[in-house]
Amino acid sequence: MLCGVLVALAVPGGLAACGTAPTTSTPPAGTTGTTGGGATPTSSGGRAGEGVVSLSEVPDGGGVVVEADGRQLVVTRTGDTVKAFDASCPHAGTAVGAPSGGTITCPNHGSQFNAADGAVKKGPATRGLTAVPVAVEGDRVVLS
Ligand code: FES
Repeated sequence: MLCGVLVALAVPGGLAACGTAPTTSTPPAGTTGTTGGGATPTSSGGRAGEGVVSLSEVPDGGGVVVEADGRQLVVTRTGDTVKAFDASCPHAGTAVGAPSGGTITCPNHGSQFNAADGAVKKGPATRGLTAVPVAVEGDRVVLS
């Protein structure tokens, strides 16, 4: 019983091997943390049409941080212009905050970005936020 638990914790599929060959512990060939081996794309790229946030929830002249498409996005608004950026700070990946006064600030090391285009205003980040294409459909901001 204990053997099965220990082997099951150490080796996936080890329970089957426990009773038949207790002295062997051959690691599964070719396993490095990935499974399958198919050509799985590494980037989802977003799903066009997927709702991100209600337009009425995005303050004019400001913005919000929302969860969409499995990641956090900063959605900014100036009048009828709505933009979105990946909230992951290009410096070290911390989620940036919602814009204030036209500036998006990272709480980790203080990088600042222009809320209108995501460009760096102040380091240590050396590049701007990654834009995420969105569109307004009715009262919804959607991935485009
Ligand atoms: S992680 Fe954002 S400034 Fe360092």
